[in-house]
Amino acid sequence: MPQPAHTENPLREGLTSRAMPDPCSIVIFGATGDLTHRKLIPALYNLAADGALPPALSVVGFARREKTDESFREELEEAAKKYSRQSLDAELWSSFASGISYHRSAFDDLSGYASLAEKLNALDTQRGTRGNRLFYLAVAPDQFEVILENLRTSGLNVASEGSWSRVIVEKPFGTDLPSARHLNSLVECAFPEKATYRIDHYLGKETAQNIMVLRFANAIFEAMWNSRYIDHIQITASEPLGVEGRAGYYDKSGALRDMVQNHLLQLLCLTAMEPPTDLSADAIRDEKVKVLRSLRPLIGDTVFTSVIRGQYGAGAINGKPVVAYREEANVDATSQAETYVALEIHVDNWRWAGVPFFVRVGKRLPKGGTEIAIQFKSVPPVLFKAAGGTLDDNVLVIRIQPDEGISLRISAKMPGSSLRIEPVKMDFHYGTSFGKATPEAYERLLLDAMSGDPTLFARRDEVEEAWKFVDAIRAAWVTRSDDLAFYSAGAWGPTEADELLRKHGVAWRRL
Ligand code: BG6
Repeated sequence: MPQPAHTENPLREGLTSRAMPDPCSIVIFGATGDLTHRKLIPALYNLAADGALPPALSVVGFARREKTDESFREELEEAAKKYSRQSLDAELWSSFASGISYHRSAFDDLSGYASLAEKLNALDTQRGTRGNRLFYLAVAPDQFEVILENLRTSGLNVASEGSWSRVIVEKPFGTDLPSARHLNSLVECAFPEKATYRIDHYLGKETAQNIMVLRFANAIFEAMWNSRYIDHIQITASEPLGVEGRAGYYDKSGALRDMVQNHLLQLLCLTAMEPPTDLSADAIRDEKVKVLRSLRPLIGDTVFTSVIRGQYGAGAINGKPVVAYREEANVDATSQAETYVALEIHVDNWRWAGVPFFVRVGKRLPKGGTEIAIQFKSVPPVLFKAAGGTLDDNVLVIRIQPDEGISLRISAKMPGSSLRIEPVKMDFHYGTSFGKATPEAYERLLLDAMSGDPTLFARRDEVEEAWKFVDAIRAAWVTRSDDLAFYSAGAWGPTEADELLRKHGVAWRRL
């Protein structure tokens, strides 16, 4: 049989490549901030390095500080050197950076938007960006309103005939349901839903996208993806990091609002959703919303039996002593903010009746990692009784990060004349199977927003449903303070969280 022509990696053969996004100008509000330096510019540079960006692209940094185009580019180059996934190529950087400029203005100064409009029109002529604009709100949420208002007043929200104008809104998208609704209505005044891209960067992670493929492109998994075969599901996001200079925000937010309302509920939705009718953005998001609507509300006293909140005390991470949360800079010495939360969540629908979803997230935990573990039910204890010991149940682990991949634990007979059964793992690693580094979430999300694909962005109703669930928990929390449990930095959260699972005869997985 003739061999196929040589390709870089046979597994990549046949993968469809996507169309190049339209030429456009990306305006970053908050261009001198952390997000721009750490994530946005490195992501755009990597897209450029991979040849994924249209040649006609311009990036305009909009911020208050005094800067020239040159000093702005130099500062971004330093950041890209530090944070880029691929090392910087001087020639490529200089060609990419030639499309970057700086626009100095206060967010509340309408004249700054009028001059921005002139600048963007000039860029259309000089660089061929064709009137397409992507506005990125990489600013603190208290700035959203004024920016949206000024974009609208200056008419920048409306694209000229045949062009488009879109907005990307960073998290946190509100601090509770009323504020999220308010923000949604502000956005709606300036941009239609189809032009609104609410970032949840977990959706841009390659492995999060693979959940649907794993479930719906493999007959063996989907057939067992229900309460008949699954005992429970554990979703973990653990970080050794502390608040890292973000105390001003984090102390008001806490882990529930910072991570559960968005990232972890999104992972839960992807794990629990029904197959969508097709792969369109709305079909997928419709199914996710149904999951959110099926969450059994955690209200009143059930909060104190189903949700454990914790805060780290002093301890050690990787052998190095670290201070307690309450001793971190800018944290109130009596702060009640939770740096850890563990929840028992139930999805009250036909598929998941009786299957608990245990979700935990924490800072200053011993190891960093995000994973979804599907714990299957035990086999009847009949056949292998004589072999002694207990059989380990099957577990399918989707590693979101690091070491992205999927593993399945099965039981196997150890070689030898006696019947000894041991757990073994079947493992899939992205890196080795596809021979390609996993792109950063922001790369995918920026590309999708430029291409007009909102699938990996949260829709208005998703965000609001998630807040409803989270607000009920917080409403119970404000009635008490004695349930805040403490754990030493470097421990796997408070012992109370272990109890949450012990009640069900199970335990948290060790990452
Ligand atoms: C952010 C949270 O949304 O996600 C941070 O605000 C958290 O507190 C971060 O550290 C985790 O993201 P990642 O991609 O590092 O898992």
